[in-house]
Amino acid sequence: MNHLIAPSILAADFANLQRDIEMINNSEADWIHVDIMDGMFVPNISFGFPVVNAAKKHATKPLDVHLMIVDPDRYLKAFKDAGADSITVHQETCPHLHRTIQAIKQLGCKAAVAINPATPVSTLEDIVADLDMVLIMSVNPGFGGQHFIENTYKKIKELRTLSAEKNPGLLIEIDGGVDANNVTKLIEAGANVFVAGTSVFSSANQVAAISKLKHP
Ligand code: DX5
Ligand code: ZN
Repeated sequence: MNHLIAPSILAADFANLQRDIEMINNSEADWIHVDIMDGMFVPNISFGFPVVNAAKKHATKPLDVHLMIVDPDRYLKAFKDAGADSITVHQETCPHLHRTIQAIKQLGCKAAVAINPATPVSTLEDIVADLDMVLIMSVNPGFGGQHFIENTYKKIKELRTLSAEKNPGLLIEIDGGVDANNVTKLIEAGANVFVAGTSVFSSANQVAAISKLKHP
């Protein structure tokens, strides 16, 4: 399949969120990545429901909501109601991951699990068949603009081997430090969804930066 691009509005100008969402609408981006941080699971706080609602109001593309929060079960329905099309929870925050994934699916959302850089792919062995997508963090979650961690390539290959056996249609999303210099190698390793914050929004021509990721 062709790979997908999901610009992250964490790097947008929140005083001009409508403008930035419309830029994404008018680009070759496929999804809009929405980072929710609670100041507990990760050291940073991003934004909550009013901002997701506002983004949804203007977005013509699916909202890919990445929950970096403790006990995400409490808020799954609220994020669905705010406009989430897919919901990603962290493996590290879910003691009953199977139950959480079923709950996301029952809401009618695509269900995904994220793993931190230090969390092995093997921890997903018994859940991967139930997932639409796995998000491999290529930085430690919490902030945009960090350096890409090279060990990510190895994890993508391990996950492709696992998914070939258990879930061939699995999407593999990479989040953190993705840019025009590493996207080709990431595709070759087997990833097919790319989150990009800084590399898109710090660019003088944001629409062109998205096209460059789409056609590397
Ligand atoms: C980091 C977030 C990312 C972030 C990526 O915790 O999950 O989605 O927006 O930003 P860049 O592309 O700047 O690394
Ligand atoms: Zn993210």
